[in-house]
Amino acid sequence: MTTTQKVPLLLIGVGNVGQRFLELLIRKRDTLCDRLGLELILTGVADTSGVAICPTGLDPQQVVQLKAKGQGVAAYPRWGQSGGSALEMVRTTEADLLLEASPANLEDGQPGLSCIETALSRGMHVVTANKAPLVLAFPRLLTLTRVHGVQLRFDATVAGGLPAVNLGQRDLAAAEIYRLEGILNLTTNYILTRMAQDGLSYDEALAHAQAAGHAETDPSLDVEGWDAANKLVILAHSVLDYPATLAGVAVEGITHVTAETLRQAAAEGKRVKLVATAERDGDRYNLSVRPAWLDADHPLAQLGPKQMGIVYHTDISGVITAAIVEETPLPTASAMLRDIIDIYLLSAAR
Ligand SMILES: NC(=O)c1ccc[n+]([C@@H]2O[C@H](COP(=O)([O-])OP(=O)(O)OC[C@H]3O[C@@H](n4cnc5c(N)ncnc54)[C@H](OP(=O)(O)O)[C@@H]3O)[C@@H](O)[C@H]2O)c1
Repeated sequence: MTTTQKVPLLLIGVGNVGQRFLELLIRKRDTLCDRLGLELILTGVADTSGVAICPTGLDPQQVVQLKAKGQGVAAYPRWGQSGGSALEMVRTTEADLLLEASPANLEDGQPGLSCIETALSRGMHVVTANKAPLVLAFPRLLTLTRVHGVQLRFDATVAGGLPAVNLGQRDLAAAEIYRLEGILNLTTNYILTRMAQDGLSYDEALAHAQAAGHAETDPSLDVEGWDAANKLVILAHSVLDYPATLAGVAVEGITHVTAETLRQAAAEGKRVKLVATAERDGDRYNLSVRPAWLDADHPLAQLGPKQMGIVYHTDISGVITAAIVEETPLPTASAMLRDIIDIYLLSAAR
């Protein structure tokens, strides 16, 4: 590699995912430069405290250290600005790339949605881990990418580090996908698997999931199936080219699944998993998220408590299964990094 491409980037959100991403910038700096010829320069960062913006680059280590001390990015020496908004940063700061890792706000998509729209309109590529803007406005965002000749990448929005979107979009580009099945939500898979394997009640398994950091304090979005449904909508738009809405997904969660149900299933050689399915039906897809009784040798039935997975049934590419063990948000951050690499190296070379 003879030349190094410098990529100024902005990051919104320095929580679990954003901090892991900054750690990757530090840990993989030499690999990115020496092996891939890519120098990622953090020129702006935003959290709820405000922003820090420096045209020549902030030190990712310093941002991580501030967060570790419980401080916000506004406390960044010299370049921190208390109260500055993420949107204003995206409107006014020069950068090639926006990384979005703010919370998924499924009411109105903010602040992620406006930040992504603004970045795309300003000619920046966008890599996001935040599913809400895609669920709420996928067609509009796709139009913006086409009008402005930029890329929007979001592999991290579906099952963290699992390459579900990229596998479908890139490797199955010429295939017909007649069935897609996925375990797309870690919390529910953790609960059902611990109930089945360890004989825990639903409440006990949920408490374990919360204690281990695999479930939110309010787990309703996960256990009622809506998180998986959101991810299915993203897969439908991006991989199946099918204009799905959340209202078009038949959703049933796992709150009524009892230890007795799981024992019955096991007695019949089955395992109960929360499965998101898209089934081809003529020129449309039937979309659902529901607890399914899978044969014990089904690839998704095999997945352990910290795993998620997807199965694509295709016309020319066989049946492809991908699975991940995701113990921490690091693989999600790494999915953002591989999207960046794809934008600057792989897509550019195609
Ligand atoms: N955690 C995972 O494993 C995972 C996996 C896949 C996808 N995701 C998605 O990735 C995104 C980030 O997840 P996370 O777990 O990192 O969330 P998190 O820990 O709650 O962090 C969210 C970050 O966003 C910042 N933030 C909140 N509101 C903001 C605003 N209005 N303007 C600027 N910054 C704002 C927060 O600031 P403060 O630090 O000041 O509070 C925090 O730094 C979410 O959309 C999530 O659904 C997460």
